[in-house]
Amino acid sequence: MKIAFVGKGGSGKTTLSSLFIRHLAARHTPVVAVDADINQHLGAALGLPEDEAAALPAMGARLPLIKDYLRGSNPRIADAQSMIKTTPPGAGSRLLRVTEDNPVYDACAREVVLDGGAGGTVRLLVTGPFTEADLGVACYHSKVGAVELCLNHLVDGRDEFVVVDMTAGSDSFASGLFTRFDMTFLVAEPTRKGVAVYRQYRSYARDYGVALKVVGNKVQGPDDLAFLRDEVGDDLLVTVGHSGWVRAMEKGRQQPLSALEEVNREALDTLLGTADAAYARRDWERYTRQMVHFHLRNAESWGNARAGVDLAEQVDPGFVLREGSLTTTAQPA
Ligand SMILES: Nc1ncnc2c1ncn2[C@@H]1O[C@H](COP(=O)(O)OP(=O)(O)OP(=O)(O)O)[C@@H](O)[C@H]1O
Ligand SMILES: [Mg+2]
Repeated sequence: MKIAFVGKGGSGKTTLSSLFIRHLAARHTPVVAVDADINQHLGAALGLPEDEAAALPAMGARLPLIKDYLRGSNPRIADAQSMIKTTPPGAGSRLLRVTEDNPVYDACAREVVLDGGAGGTVRLLVTGPFTEADLGVACYHSKVGAVELCLNHLVDGRDEFVVVDMTAGSDSFASGLFTRFDMTFLVAEPTRKGVAVYRQYRSYARDYGVALKVVGNKVQGPDDLAFLRDEVGDDLLVTVGHSGWVRAMEKGRQQPLSALEEVNREALDTLLGTADAAYARRDWERYTRQMVHFHLRNAESWGNARAGVDLAEQVDPGFVLREGSLTTTAQPA
């Protein structure tokens, strides 16, 4: 299951994704955690010491390796250079799985042991820090491109998760990244700005059938709750209040997940139940169709000019990504 946490800067995306990741890991559910946020804090939120978090290998800096691996022997993709972030898999492409070992994980992922092992382990991938130049500029600079490529080549089953901590930025709308998830949790504080980000996201999401739920955060009392209910309506899934557990973590005091407030653990259960229920709406054909749609759009708007070839030819019309897809051969559509 592919799950995204999005929202306004500072809303609590990293905090809530890290809690959800811990919740999964504690249940021994395989999980790949991806930090695609502007401020790279997921490693620290999962308890990595600062120096280790800073030394994590950046996916953004390993794009050639990622592309070369995923391309495999796909005859429609001449070389890694002609592969853009939306290039879809086809016959001959290599696919990724959550639990396997592969050169992409070898190069980019680090194992994070939670609560001294009692909390399970997760694989952590990071896009690398965003610079001023990454924000709102040309698509080919996108730091999250590596994440999109990996999601488009990933076949995941029901009881394994990829959790991505990311911003609700224009980057993900232009490329199609926002359509790559079984469930998107939009973290919103009970403020006008928090809710404005939700509205914008919802309007993009609607056209593509994106499953979107709002997680209210830093909700203090009935007035905050009433505000969110008014503004968000049925999309409001659950709310989280001020957490002493989170605050203690911020002070460097590590605690096991079992010490998290009961009400917040219940909120995590709600997130998990909602994510799991999204499995029933999975549609690999739609998933594949959408990646092709965004690839053609990106090819036309900048990719073809940059690559000097028609990137529409990278599309394998007979290929559908799906569970059970073989690594090097296409499934008949
Ligand atoms: N429920 C909560 N209880 C207490 N503190 C919280 C809670 N949620 C978030 N915080 C605190 O609010 C701050 C912002 O949270 P966080 O870093 O998770 O937000 P973010 O959306 O990832 O921000 P950014 O956009 O900067 O990446 C952090 O200091 C975090 O500890
Ligand atoms: Mg963050």
